[in-house]
Amino acid sequence: MAKIILVANWKNHPTSLFEAKSLLKELGKAKDTYKKLRLFIAPPLPYVEEVRLRSKSFSNLASQDFPLVTSGSRTGLVTPDILKSFGIKAAIIGHSELRVLGETNKMVALKLKTALTSGISPFICVGEKSRDQDGEHFNFLRHELKLSLSTLSRRSDLSKLAIVYEPVWAIGKKAKDAAGPEELTQTIIFIRKVLADIFGREKALKIPILYGGSVEPTNAKALLAKTGVRGFLVGHVSLDVSAFKEIARSLVI
Ligand code: PGA
Repeated sequence: MAKIILVANWKNHPTSLFEAKSLLKELGKAKDTYKKLRLFIAPPLPYVEEVRLRSKSFSNLASQDFPLVTSGSRTGLVTPDILKSFGIKAAIIGHSELRVLGETNKMVALKLKTALTSGISPFICVGEKSRDQDGEHFNFLRHELKLSLSTLSRRSDLSKLAIVYEPVWAIGKKAKDAAGPEELTQTIIFIRKVLADIFGREKALKIPILYGGSVEPTNAKALLAKTGVRGFLVGHVSLDVSAFKEIARSLVI
């Protein structure tokens, strides 16, 4: 069975390289656990080289975004070749914290295409802002998924693609505010169905769906066991080394 994917999304933390180094030192103490998973660390870009050097025996590197364009002179952009030369293997694309600043589904779809062409695994984030009794959020999700994946077709090679369901209402809170096993199961089935409509059932079944939004040691194991997710994207708790280690341990089967 494929290894469980665990992504540490450091966002814009910690606030200094000094702190990043000590975080990595602590993380390294549980490397035997991480090796049983597919761990990705997505640090702020200036820390990438340090993270690479200190975690290469137990982790892969991911970027927190991906450029819209690849070549030419691009002031301010870090293009795929540079990312790859630092050993970056995956990219979080379409995170709600970038969508809220103006990233559109169309931009996500273009970044996704560029990532695949560059040999980078895209982790495509989708998720509704809120839920309602009428299930309107399912329409939102279907729409967001279809448009975000619109640069791909049934013929595309999807072996590197993963979807991350990150409901905005669950991000940055506590485990009690995260999606519960029942609602997550329902949503994973729904996402899988939309993927099957786009790519066909056989291909859809192979795409890993991860969950992100207040994953903590207290809910990770149950969410993994009961919902059909194949891993997690962890934000604030990825900076709390002992809690993060506990999550990792709970996912090792
Ligand atoms: P959280 O963030 O784990 O802090 O909720 C998840 C994310 O935004 O990637």
